[in-house]
Amino acid sequence: MSDYKNLSLTLITSEVKPGSIRWRSPSNIALVKYWGKHGVQLPRNPSVSFTLDGAATDTTLSYSVREVAGEGIDVVLHLDGELNEGFTERTKRFFKELLPIYPFLKQLSFKIKTSNSFPHSAGIASSASGMSALALCLVSLEEELFEPFKDRSEFNAKASYLARLGSGSACRSIYGGAAVWGTLAALKGSSDEFAVPVSESLHRVFQDYHDDILLISKSEKLVSSRAGHSLMDGNPYATARYAQATRRTDEMLTVLRQGKVERFGEILESEALTLHALMMSSYPPYILIRPNTLTVIERIHQYREDTGLPLYFTLDAGPNLHLLYPSSIATEVKKFIREQLLYFCEDNMYLADRVGKGPERLDVSE
Ligand code: DP6
Repeated sequence: MSDYKNLSLTLITSEVKPGSIRWRSPSNIALVKYWGKHGVQLPRNPSVSFTLDGAATDTTLSYSVREVAGEGIDVVLHLDGELNEGFTERTKRFFKELLPIYPFLKQLSFKIKTSNSFPHSAGIASSASGMSALALCLVSLEEELFEPFKDRSEFNAKASYLARLGSGSACRSIYGGAAVWGTLAALKGSSDEFAVPVSESLHRVFQDYHDDILLISKSEKLVSSRAGHSLMDGNPYATARYAQATRRTDEMLTVLRQGKVERFGEILESEALTLHALMMSSYPPYILIRPNTLTVIERIHQYREDTGLPLYFTLDAGPNLHLLYPSSIATEVKKFIREQLLYFCEDNMYLADRVGKGPERLDVSE
């Protein structure tokens, strides 16, 4: 496997004209979770996700030759039109880590303008959409400054590899439909270093599956995903968990192909609860779900019992619930959300989303 290190990606700066590149990249929701990593952003187990449609980051990367060749990286990042020092620092660190792959990053000055489609205060993670949008801008930049890739799949593999270095789950956002990250014996081409698309084998029922995100709490979470991953190293259930996640990713792929919505839901919910059980059994233990998360879970279970409809939930590393269901029952489910669940959400807010087609390169002038 190539690690993409390439000292020849150095510019003759007198030949470079300033330019801008813009990508919109979506978030994704893990069906089988990535939780635990090692080495340089390598996952302890394979994971599989749906790529979303509405929740996305729009990023424009503008570049010009650096006036004075200096040390380190020259980048500033504006989020929603305002300078954001935290993200500027994170991007600087990210670009610095990429120097062995992209030595030209220190020859240019960068201005990044980024915004999210979801409200900043919504408390939903934006690292998957944000890091994948940035990685796509960088790989397009490589194409503009050097040579085009042989084909789309090489372009995507490199974008996914770079996105992974920024944030693990971001590597799955490069593809529409569904994506797998992590080596899986049964999936040819799968890798720990980048995600691969599995949308071609997605049953019709899943192609426009809904994901409504209930915002139970918009507060910043107390323990970051980064810290949570590292607590897995001391978790007594870690080994069993990694084996379970491998089996489940395998089974989930079969389920996605066959369109079995009930089995899909069973794995989905167990994955969410397992993820939070791992947090509770880490040392020190911590709890990210809120009382209202549990209340809504009970209501969903009751709703399923009463109606027999395949409405299931999952959770990220936070208190908010993702409600997944086929488009054929959208009218009933939305009524249920409005009438029985919104009360438990902060400011009665939820975001309606669904499986999407993946990132899009946009015109800079748009
Ligand atoms: C619970 O990708 O946010 O959402 O690699 O440290 O950036 P880093 O972690 P991150 O972890 C996501 C964890 C998860 C499960 C998943 O998306 O698979």
